[in-house]
Amino acid sequence: MKKTFYIFTFVFLQICLFSIPVYAEKSEKEIFFDNAANNWEKSSTNAKELSQISEVIDYFGLKEGETVLDAGCGTGRLIPFLYTNVGKNGYVYGIDFSQEMLRIAKQKYHNENISFIKADIAQIPLSSESIDRIICFCTFPHIDNKMVALSEFHRLLKPSGILVICNLLGSKELNDLHKKIGGAVANDTSPCAEEMKRLFLESNFIPLELQDFQTSYLMTASKPHY
Ligand SMILES: C[S@@+](CC[C@H](N)C(=O)[O-])C[C@H]1O[C@@H](n2cnc3c(N)ncnc32)[C@H](O)[C@@H]1O
Repeated sequence: MKKTFYIFTFVFLQICLFSIPVYAEKSEKEIFFDNAANNWEKSSTNAKELSQISEVIDYFGLKEGETVLDAGCGTGRLIPFLYTNVGKNGYVYGIDFSQEMLRIAKQKYHNENISFIKADIAQIPLSSESIDRIICFCTFPHIDNKMVALSEFHRLLKPSGILVICNLLGSKELNDLHKKIGGAVANDTSPCAEEMKRLFLESNFIPLELQDFQTSYLMTASKPHY
């Protein structure tokens, strides 16, 4: 009886010890996006935002048969647009570090050419040079270490692969909005065109487009073909 008690106590303590770090590891930002997930789905898939997405999607230059990564896919509002463009011979990966955002995305799409992965953009569990195009939509401002993210995007892209960073507000407008929202996103900023160009060059990308307008932000770059 005493032995059973000790075994039970030992197992219980082990479970506690291994579970605590799992919860403690969640950053303030992951918790922010987990909490925003249900509302995000309601507020961000309205007709206005969807029509803005269908307008910008042409600028992403997606081609039939491409493998595309939606970096920071959230609840997956971009997925149908990406999938329609790459078609049945293409492949769409959605990655996000928010469990709740991904839970909603996974509920919506079960296509065999679409996979969702829970990961931080700083360390994406996909093979080097496996992706034709990376789309970072409404997510880049939230990434804490932008140079690490760019280096990970560079690793994943095939030679001549394209990185697209797009937001639905200009840098000034978005930075003001994040300050207004406050909390975990208060200091999340979108680099202006000059700064983005510097970041691209420092991470060995060739800058292509650098557009920063009041209601649209589109920065694209290509990985050199060595
Ligand atoms: C503003 S939401 C945009 C979601 C989606 N792209 C859309 O437009 O609906 C930003 C997303 O990026 C994710 N995110 C932010 N930083 C991340 C990181 N370092 N690694 C993975 N996901 C991240 C958040 O969890 C969130 O789902």
